[in-house]
Amino acid sequence: MIEDGISSKNSDKTRILIIGGGAQAKYAVDTFTLRGIEVCAVMNLYDSDELDWPATYSCPVLPVNPSLNNALMSNPTHAIACMPKGLEKVEWLTIAKKAGLKPISAIHPSAVIAQTANIGEAVIINANAVIQPFASIGNGVMIHAGCIVEHNAIVEDYATLAPGARMAGWSQVGRGATVFTGANLIPSVKVGNESIVAAGATVINDVPDRVLVAGVPAELKKQLD
Ligand SMILES: CC(C)(COP(=O)(O)OP(=O)(O)OC[C@H]1O[C@@H](n2cnc3c(N)ncnc32)[C@H](O)[C@@H]1OP(=O)(O)O)[C@@H](O)C(=O)NCCC(=O)NCCS
Repeated sequence: MIEDGISSKNSDKTRILIIGGGAQAKYAVDTFTLRGIEVCAVMNLYDSDELDWPATYSCPVLPVNPSLNNALMSNPTHAIACMPKGLEKVEWLTIAKKAGLKPISAIHPSAVIAQTANIGEAVIINANAVIQPFASIGNGVMIHAGCIVEHNAIVEDYATLAPGARMAGWSQVGRGATVFTGANLIPSVKVGNESIVAAGATVINDVPDRVLVAGVPAELKKQLD
């Protein structure tokens, strides 16, 4: 069973509010559409030339409104926060919950998720990602296409795995950290909270909090303020 916050028998009554408007919102709308779950509105947080993209999926775009008053008029039952910054996700999910909306995850139908994996709330997992047995995915995590999270690996809350990132068994990505495209973690290494692993890096030693590492093997490049 996919741990997305709804049961299949209730999916026909589920109406989703997407809070965001950028790439993560696009993934979520696409996934819900593929899974036959109704997106009733997208609340757009960004100025964008692409403001009308949700019309492709037949759902309205609403201007940003922190009280959610306008969004609630479209009768959503669930909400997902779709934006790069973890703190913003926390804030928007708190607002949505206070408004009575349940958090929901957007898990692409082609993602493979082991029965024993633990999946948090309001995550986005894109096409062809593989989450192996006893792996743990925290709240608000973004896992892009083709990532592999091996057995017993941990992705903490609000972290991001960019396309094709691979975590070997028992490795760990800290809260709000980002592992960019095609980077690899060998078994049991830990990337610290809010740190960044540059594209193509291979992490063979633990990475402290709030630093950028890059290269093969990954080396410290800079502290992040
Ligand atoms: C990490 C990244 C964001 C750069 O961050 P940044 O803060 O702008 O880093 P800088 O450009 O200041 O680079 C700092 C150092 O790291 C090095 N570096 C940065 N990215 C690197 C990479 N991918 N591989 C090797 N070295 C890299 C730079 O050469 C520089 O090294 P130096 O200090 O020895 O000259 C970027 O390089 C990267 O990996 N982008 C991938 C983004 C991605 O995958 N997006 C997918 C979204 S779906």
